[in-house]
Amino acid sequence: MERLEKIYEGKAKIIYKTSDPDLVVQYFKDDASAFNGAKKGTIVDKGVMNNHISSRIFQFLANEGIETHFVETLNDREMLVKKLDIIPVEVVLRNVAAGSLTKRLGIEEGTVLRNPVLEFFYKSDPLGDPMINECHIETFGWATKKEMKVLKSEGLKINSLLIEFFKARNIRLVDFKLEFGRHKGGVLLGDEISPDGCRLWHWDTGEKMDKDRFRFNLGSVEEKYQKVYDLIFLPSNG
Ligand code: TMP
Repeated sequence: MERLEKIYEGKAKIIYKTSDPDLVVQYFKDDASAFNGAKKGTIVDKGVMNNHISSRIFQFLANEGIETHFVETLNDREMLVKKLDIIPVEVVLRNVAAGSLTKRLGIEEGTVLRNPVLEFFYKSDPLGDPMINECHIETFGWATKKEMKVLKSEGLKINSLLIEFFKARNIRLVDFKLEFGRHKGGVLLGDEISPDGCRLWHWDTGEKMDKDRFRFNLGSVEEKYQKVYDLIFLPSNG
């Protein structure tokens, strides 16, 4: 399926029309941004790695019964996906304290959480993606009660599945962000699942292998993304 004109360009991806009104091409760029666009840069071949990593994870989730927008990997940087009406709510799942949770609640980084913690954030660049709750989502009509139920149950299910997926590859799934969208009356998982939107620590060494390396100038950014790719696609793991 060939891509036609651009519909939307975000910080890390571009969406193109196709000849099928129900399908779009998701193109993965090397551009990286953090702190709501205040820090910008390039991670060489990030787009290629994230496209393949996301494709693999979407295939894994589909096999486990999760409905996603993924249709097929087209090439190194492009994925064919179902066109979604994106719900403007980011669903974050946490298994280990890190990032904004440590700052907000004073919990020490690395604290293993007794239960997965599910949080909602409003998808808004001008507002810097503020944290919100179910009452905000319902009041402002960002999702219905029924849709929110799906976001929560699918979010928790995906978390359980991905904890095991990564653990089998010697990676600790610390936290991650999901986006969902409406499609033909249902709600599907969209966007991407990659080191851009997950915190992934090496199980044995604890080394960070995700966008925190870019955010906090930890160095070896490309190498660590490549490490995640290798751990996922090692012959025994792929
Ligand atoms: P946080 O600690 O900054 O709240 O982020 C939690 C996880 O969700 C982390 O893996 C990064 C991811 N995330 C995004 O990728 N984009 C976002 O807009 C948000 C709020 C979180």
